[in-house]
Amino acid sequence: MKKITVCIGSACHIKGSARVVEQLEKLIEDHHVTDKVELAGIFCTGNCQKGVCTTFEGKLYSLNDQNTEDFFTKEVLSRL
Ligand code: FES
Repeated sequence: MKKITVCIGSACHIKGSARVVEQLEKLIEDHHVTDKVELAGIFCTGNCQKGVCTTFEGKLYSLNDQNTEDFFTKEVLSRL
């Protein structure tokens, strides 16, 4: 099981972390990979200016409404 972690700290929350989580949940279901990847929340890691801070396989990504789907298909699906 691989893990995507999304920051749930206040700065990332203001930048829309809840919407990013919602989108990722839906993408995971739509692509039928609930048994391969899981979502977890993490607390602020000090990278607030890069929010919404999301990590996958040790790399930090700055997600928003526009690039979440791209991130999922290019970075996550291709590595499952
Ligand atoms: S609140 Fe997300 S990195 Fe600080």
